[in-house]
Amino acid sequence: MSSPKQQNGYTLAIIGCGTMGVAILSGVLDSKKMMEARRAASAVLSQSMSNGSTTPVSNGGNGSSSQQQELSASIASLLELEDGDDATTQNATQLPTKFLACVNRQESARKLKKTFEDHECVEVICKDNLRAAREADAVIIACKPQMVADILQQEGIREALRNKLVCSICAGLTIKGIQAHVDKETTVVRAMPNTPSKIREGMTILTPLPATIEGASESRNRLVAIFSAVGKCRILDEKHFDAATALAGSGPAFACVFLEAMVDGGVMMGMPRSEALELAAQTMQGAARMVLQSGMHPAAIKDSVTTPGGCTIAGLMNLEDGRLRSTVARTIQAATEHAAGLGMPKN
Ligand SMILES: NC(=O)c1ccc[n+]([C@@H]2O[C@H](COP(=O)([O-])OP(=O)(O)OC[C@H]3O[C@@H](n4cnc5c(N)ncnc54)[C@H](OP(=O)(O)O)[C@@H]3O)[C@@H](O)[C@H]2O)c1
Repeated sequence: MSSPKQQNGYTLAIIGCGTMGVAILSGVLDSKKMMEARRAASAVLSQSMSNGSTTPVSNGGNGSSSQQQELSASIASLLELEDGDDATTQNATQLPTKFLACVNRQESARKLKKTFEDHECVEVICKDNLRAAREADAVIIACKPQMVADILQQEGIREALRNKLVCSICAGLTIKGIQAHVDKETTVVRAMPNTPSKIREGMTILTPLPATIEGASESRNRLVAIFSAVGKCRILDEKHFDAATALAGSGPAFACVFLEAMVDGGVMMGMPRSEALELAAQTMQGAARMVLQSGMHPAAIKDSVTTPGGCTIAGLMNLEDGRLRSTVARTIQAATEHAAGLGMPKN
């Protein structure tokens, strides 16, 4: 993934910049923007602190010194708040400096150009994956799984990808399947992100890079930086990818069905739809964040809001009667089994 010419940054091509490609690209660009804002805030803070400690401001008694302290405190708390953010703790230099967003149709290219018109670092490329593969230091393949073989078999692509890192986010497509179309000098990994990457709340799993590969740790750091910039990123063996595809890749759709059903319930009981939606969405987000932040078991959180003889247990009984748990668990099973078949040739 690294190349000597890329001391001051590197170029990432996204071959197939559709829903997921745009989600990843938007998230990374937002993250870079936040990091820049944070760096600027940090510079203001150090300037302000050095003024405060070494050069007391002569303010003619107008209180600007205490205002300065307040400003320093609020910037410091802003920086502190962001310290826990996966994206901001990643080294900004691990993120790409140039992006090549590749699509197949002129109409999609037009839309992409509009979406990223404020970002000079994004170049939209239509029907020219070969140029993108040549110019990029790393490639994310984000087209539909069934298109990958055709794209990789295009004349010149194999050579263009030699000694580079190719990261496929295609569901069901194995590393071995992709390796069949590239040289052995090309490093192939898989990632499974999800659409909340667009708002930097994604969940991505990444296959480990064998330590024997040259530049493995730099490649891993760069990939972790990219996917951490758009949410959380965990490294997991490839054997878990079909389940991760179901759980995290398809998960937002499943969660939205539950969310929509909660909203319908609220509407059924006379609540305006927009308020019901806000209540349900914020409640789901709050419950999920409690699990992530406190490390509490979901059952413990459920028990803590379930008063004996109360309304929560009345509702829970209804969920159990409807076999919600097994329905949801079987949903993940069905989606996992389907994901496993996506990379298989169709008869
Ligand atoms: N959607 C999800 O939630 C999700 C989650 C995890 C993983 N994934 C995986 O991500 C991949 C993409 O899914 P998606 O939902 O983002 O699909 P999508 O919205 O249909 O995007 C596919 C993109 O591929 C482009 N494309 C088609 N042929 C191409 C070619 N020959 N060269 C370059 N680009 C080409 C399309 O461009 P045109 O519009 O010009 O045809 C489009 O931009 C899939 O493999 C899927 O398994 C998806």
